[in-house]
Amino acid sequence: MSSSDDRHDTPDVSPNGGVSRRNFLKGTGVALSIPIVAKTEKIVKAAGADVQIHGPDKVNITLNINGAAKQASVEPRVTLLDALRNDLDITGAKRVCDRATCGACTVIVDGKAVYSCTVLAIEAQGRRIQTAEGLEQNGKLHPVQQAFWDNDAQQCGFCTPGFVMACKALLDKHPNPTDEQIRLGMGGNLCRCGTYHGVKGAIAQAAGGMRKLKGGKA
Ligand code: FES
Ligand code: FES
Repeated sequence: MSSSDDRHDTPDVSPNGGVSRRNFLKGTGVALSIPIVAKTEKIVKAAGADVQIHGPDKVNITLNINGAAKQASVEPRVTLLDALRNDLDITGAKRVCDRATCGACTVIVDGKAVYSCTVLAIEAQGRRIQTAEGLEQNGKLHPVQQAFWDNDAQQCGFCTPGFVMACKALLDKHPNPTDEQIRLGMGGNLCRCGTYHGVKGAIAQAAGGMRKLKGGKA
């Protein structure tokens, strides 16, 4: 059965239930009322509660990306998308709208498709992050990648890594997706080149390929 869980994370929700980008920005109002003395990490009292302040200087973070620990030094305001692209040279996820609209930045975090432009890099620590770079195994394309290739489901290709990751997250959860599940799972990704017909064919082929990969019937 479909649920709102099939959709991409909204800007209000970080993958671990922690501080999303939007809540982080809201929290700036609180931070401004606090003397600006924090350099890296500090606990301060605000509205009767302990609030952990990071930055404004860079902090060291470790991210689990495609099964490997990757280290970077980033300002706390930096998104997962920018940390991937600018600090770790993992450029599959694309920055297009940078505001949770287009899906070009989609990665999978703990099994769920999320917009990496709406997640802070520091909040992604301890989560399992998958990007398009991690799909190919032993020189062989993942069934989802192969399906996008076979169905010519791209033109400029700028949206494609995001579509591929959204498709993988969808099929991991729903091996035999209904039309409604496809609509919810893929509805957060836009293609300006209009390759939706090819994407539809790719999803059908990828579903069979992934079932086969898992030992079931294609
Ligand atoms: S770049 Fe993140 S949704 Fe468009
Ligand atoms: S292939 Fe060009 S935006 Fe989708």
